[in-house]
Amino acid sequence: MLTLTKLSTLLQIALGCASLLDVASAAPSMMSRKQGGPVTSAELGAGADPSKAGKNISSSYQPASSLAVKDPSYQVISDFDFQSIALALHQEYIELDLFNYGLVKFSDADYDAHGLDAEDRHLIRHMAQQEIGHAVALSNMLGAKAPKQCTYRYDFQTVPEFVDFCQRLTKWGESGVYGFLNLLDNRASAQILLQSITTEARQQYTFRQFEGLFPMPEWFETGLPQSWAWTLLSPWIVSCPEENQPLAWDIYPALKWLNEPDAIAAGKAAGGPSISNNVTALTHAGQENLFSWDEPGKIQGPYRQKTRTYTSGTPKFAAYVSQFNVSYTELYDVDMNARTAKARQPGGTVYPQGPSLVNSTVFVALTDTDTFYTPANLSLINKHVVAGPAIYQAG
Ligand SMILES: *[C@@H]1O[C@H](CO)[C@@H](O)[C@H](O)[C@H]1NC(C)=O
Ligand SMILES: *[C@@H]1O[C@H](CO)[C@@H](O)[C@H](O)[C@H]1NC(C)=O
Ligand SMILES: *[C@@H]1O[C@H](CO)[C@@H](O)[C@H](O)[C@H]1NC(C)=O
Ligand SMILES: *[C@@H]1O[C@H](CO)[C@@H](O)[C@H](O)[C@H]1NC(C)=O
Ligand SMILES: *[C@@H]1O[C@H](CO)[C@@H](O)[C@H](O)[C@H]1NC(C)=O
Repeated sequence: MLTLTKLSTLLQIALGCASLLDVASAAPSMMSRKQGGPVTSAELGAGADPSKAGKNISSSYQPASSLAVKDPSYQVISDFDFQSIALALHQEYIELDLFNYGLVKFSDADYDAHGLDAEDRHLIRHMAQQEIGHAVALSNMLGAKAPKQCTYRYDFQTVPEFVDFCQRLTKWGESGVYGFLNLLDNRASAQILLQSITTEARQQYTFRQFEGLFPMPEWFETGLPQSWAWTLLSPWIVSCPEENQPLAWDIYPALKWLNEPDAIAAGKAAGGPSISNNVTALTHAGQENLFSWDEPGKIQGPYRQKTRTYTSGTPKFAAYVSQFNVSYTELYDVDMNARTAKARQPGGTVYPQGPSLVNSTVFVALTDTDTFYTPANLSLINKHVVAGPAIYQAG
């Protein structure tokens, strides 16, 4: 257990690091060569005397982790792990279905017309096959009670809409896992899940490239609570086999944008599919965002769950969850009858040299407090969610 003093020391260290980064030009890139050059290996500690680091490095010395297990088992060992990995498995299944569906729904000519050729289609097919491996790996961890594949619905009508949906879906798939990966009780299963989700991260990036967007404006990928991922995923699952056990995660009332930025148009304007296009942010700090949200109590998802909130239902803040920050701006023009409200996009950066915090595919929820969270305690926000999350396509 961390004492408060220890925690504040840690925080000071963390803040110290951030300010070091600030003055030492040690941040990776975004600094051009002219502005100070890349970090030298000496600056990173190469050539330093290892004994000064408190380690006696001899030719046979190998540091050992106190958590290493000689004969690991990959079976889930707790309900937390079961529910978390079952959520990830629902995600892998929809990806398998979705990528294949997109390949069948549109003709080669449709793809060609949008700048995606036979080799690009092969990559989508390959990504679908990767999902088979992921689904098998996760099912094996869960054992006999592993959920089976479900049926799905999609509302895209064109190739760019399909690509955009894939880019969003893989984003919450990726972020949904990062949120719990380090909290899993069985680190062995976490290891294989990690090795599957890094592949998913590459898929997300590929779909952004297919959309014509800048592949990764962010410096850090976001981790989300499981219930946030389930809130975003569950509307697309129609029904599951009867033997599937319902998932434990909450579903929060839907949050909708009334003025969402158009990533498809931006990608097209930038020249369409490409390894990288110079798409600047689609939005800017101070931009007015218009929201509407649903009441709690609607039935959603394959297990017919009721959407819920632990709050009184009145939102006060828009929480923009991006990179590893949560930034709030106050809601205004809150109309509790129409359930609409407005907020302005926050500014700021993670680190001073970095890109603006809100850029790329980010998440927004409406909350009743502006409590401070860091990545490892973000799930505490769940008790304060009035609606959402929704994706904010900021870049
Ligand atoms: C480091 O290891 C060497 C070789 O085992 C040993 O002779 C030496 O005493 C050790 N030094 C310290 C500071 O532990
Ligand atoms: C892309 O952006 C970079 C960085 O701002 C700039 O140096 C480069 O000229 C831009 N390229 C094009 C084709 O606009
Ligand atoms: C994001 O988080 C980092 C680390 O806690 C902090 O230094 C930075 O100021 C935050 N940025 C914003 C805009 O809140
Ligand atoms: C958003 O990211 C893109 C790609 O890195 C960059 O060109 C743009 O300047 C960023 N916008 C802001 C406001 O940071
Ligand atoms: C979350 O953790 C940060 C430290 O990393 C702490 O300052 C903050 O108060 C925590 N939030 C809650 C709600 O406990």
